[in-house]
Amino acid sequence: MVSSKTDARDDETLETVLSIQELIKEPLTAVPQRYIQQHDQHKPSPFSDEISAYALPTINMKKLIQGEDTEIELQKLNSACRDWGFFQLVEHGVSPAVLKTLRDEVEGFFRLPMEEKMKYKVMPGDVEGYGTVIRSEDQKLDWGDRLFMKINPLAMRKPHLLPQLPSSLRSILELYMEELQRLGMMVVALVGKAVKMEKRDLEVFEDGIQNVRMTYYPPCPEPHLVMGLTAHSDAAGITILNQMNGVNGLQIKKDGLWIPVNVISGAFIVNIGDILEIMSNGAYKSVEHRAIVNSEKERISIAMFFLPRFQSEIGPAISLTNPENPPLFKRIGVEKYVKDYFAHKLEGKSYLEQMKIHHK
Ligand code: OGA
Ligand code: NI
Repeated sequence: MVSSKTDARDDETLETVLSIQELIKEPLTAVPQRYIQQHDQHKPSPFSDEISAYALPTINMKKLIQGEDTEIELQKLNSACRDWGFFQLVEHGVSPAVLKTLRDEVEGFFRLPMEEKMKYKVMPGDVEGYGTVIRSEDQKLDWGDRLFMKINPLAMRKPHLLPQLPSSLRSILELYMEELQRLGMMVVALVGKAVKMEKRDLEVFEDGIQNVRMTYYPPCPEPHLVMGLTAHSDAAGITILNQMNGVNGLQIKKDGLWIPVNVISGAFIVNIGDILEIMSNGAYKSVEHRAIVNSEKERISIAMFFLPRFQSEIGPAISLTNPENPPLFKRIGVEKYVKDYFAHKLEGKSYLEQMKIHHK
């Protein structure tokens, strides 16, 4: 029965909203109600003078691994993780040619006709695929079109997602993911070293879960009314974000203020996720962040998330806890942790709260 385009639209009404790009094909005079955020979302103003003094620390990967300054750079990494939970990563070794091709291909993907992108749409009950999962009728929607996929372990890859992407996109993604896996594992090890965890505490990341989210944020006629990506902290150990077309929009919450992050061309943003907050027993904290949009430029990003293995258990590293520093978080299996995270509405750090042990 379902054959025409209109019918195809009907069967996805509640579970997913597929595309703002589709929505804005017809010139919009006003932002639809479902995208309008509560009033105070954009306050304090992200552009006040007060916060222009804040700039994200920059960590140089090359200096971290070779030469005379490794110890100094490791100290910098330690303060960046402790005080910010976020840093810019430069000299990371991923080739500019790969980044350029990736950008072209991802841009190309988001420009594909809707019918093409529908092949990857989020299925009912799933979290992977193209589109936004809707959990309630009154949920406010983000101003962004996204594709989310589990990419490691290989057995977790959904046959209709990565393997079915246009072949030129798939090949560059494979290359990029391979380079980022190498980089991500190095970053995890160095962050562990900076916080003085034992190597064995980090073994859970070997052949761990890795996910990718590509997001296309179209320009919005009334950017102050909407949110590109709702404030959240990442569930991951670490996240590596590539703001591939150089457009600003990421903001992180520091000292109660939303601080805009300036894109450094060719750099990645690395951030600590909830799992590393737990493992470091709170020494490093996952930090809330969000993405805003603007009225002129589209913005495109790709985030890669690094989590421990499915069958492993997470909890505060034994090497970091003792009677004076009791564990602040419960231990939990990764499988359950991930399942619960995705069942939960994206809302600041509320999920991590449930993991806390309250000492008197
Ligand atoms: C994310 C994320 C930020 C961005 O995907 O978790 O925080 O700028 N993305 O797209
Ligand atoms: Ni995030």
